[in-house]
Amino acid sequence: MAAIEVEDLRRTYGDVVAVDGISFEVAEGEIFGLVGPNGAGKTTTIECIEGLRRPSSGQVRLFGMNPFIERRAVAERIGVQLQESALPPRLRVAEALALFGAFYRRRAAIDDLLGQLGLTDKRDAAFSKLSGGQKQRLFIALALINRPEMVFFDELTTGLDPQARRSMWDLVRQIRDRGTTVVLTTHYMEEAERLCDRVMIVDRGGIVALDTPEALISKLEVDKRIVFGVPDGQDVGYLASLAAVSHIEQTDEKVIVHGHGDRFASSVVYALEDAGVSFIDLRTEQPNLEDVFLSLTGREIRE
Ligand SMILES: Nc1ncnc2c1ncn2[C@@H]1O[C@H](COP(=O)(O)OP(=O)(O)O)[C@@H](O)[C@H]1O
Ligand SMILES: [Mg+2]
Repeated sequence: MAAIEVEDLRRTYGDVVAVDGISFEVAEGEIFGLVGPNGAGKTTTIECIEGLRRPSSGQVRLFGMNPFIERRAVAERIGVQLQESALPPRLRVAEALALFGAFYRRRAAIDDLLGQLGLTDKRDAAFSKLSGGQKQRLFIALALINRPEMVFFDELTTGLDPQARRSMWDLVRQIRDRGTTVVLTTHYMEEAERLCDRVMIVDRGGIVALDTPEALISKLEVDKRIVFGVPDGQDVGYLASLAAVSHIEQTDEKVIVHGHGDRFASSVVYALEDAGVSFIDLRTEQPNLEDVFLSLTGREIRE
């Protein structure tokens, strides 16, 4: 049985259709990501799954239960990341964990959680004195306080610098490796690609695609790219005649060659060498989820 079953979920706020009849399942033990631009309906969807919001229509099952009706039973088994405004500024780290732990029958040991989240040194620090990354780690610790079978992280890494974001990814993987299912939302395509076992791309309340990141990328025949510079803008237009090349963009500073197939990169490099072109800074760029989103929706996803 799937841990989460969503069937034709729809949620409106007045005239706004936030979630427009979506169906999907989440398996136990996976890192499942909802990805899409702001306003796509990600938060509304997970709030309906958490039992915090009532669907306008459709079905949500979490561990076989209706989460809105059986809220208390569901709450014992899930962890939910708080929003920043949820904690008083002077509350200390260990106090927050003790306070939230008191709501649950099942509890993790506070010292273990502090250690796991790298917050042992901060146990007596006030919430307001923590850095952005430390606050997010405390929110993760709070979400784990009842040793949940499933955790929900909504925009866990938004606003963090790249290094803090990477360390958050490691933490999420560790949580999953200890047996907890993870459902997260992000509007960072790179994050979804690197972290999630399966990704559901959402846009305007609907599902655009749902699969593993690799499958989403390979299913689309998005071109690979080779980018390089040529001294004094030598013309490399003849590359367009190669079988693996689909088209070329050339500006004063760089050339971008679009193409496909296993022999794409080598055929371009050989052709340049044969013609005696001294290219510089040559690199290949693989398609990514950003390209998938663009090709499915015709729009760029913005941060
Ligand atoms: N409490 C609310 N009241 C009215 N409209 C809302 C509310 N929450 C979200 N919306 C609207 O619903 C749509 C989806 O929002 P949301 O689920 O927060 O998307 P996301 O998390 O992907 O950014 C947006 O158009 C948003 O403005
Ligand atoms: Mg949101």
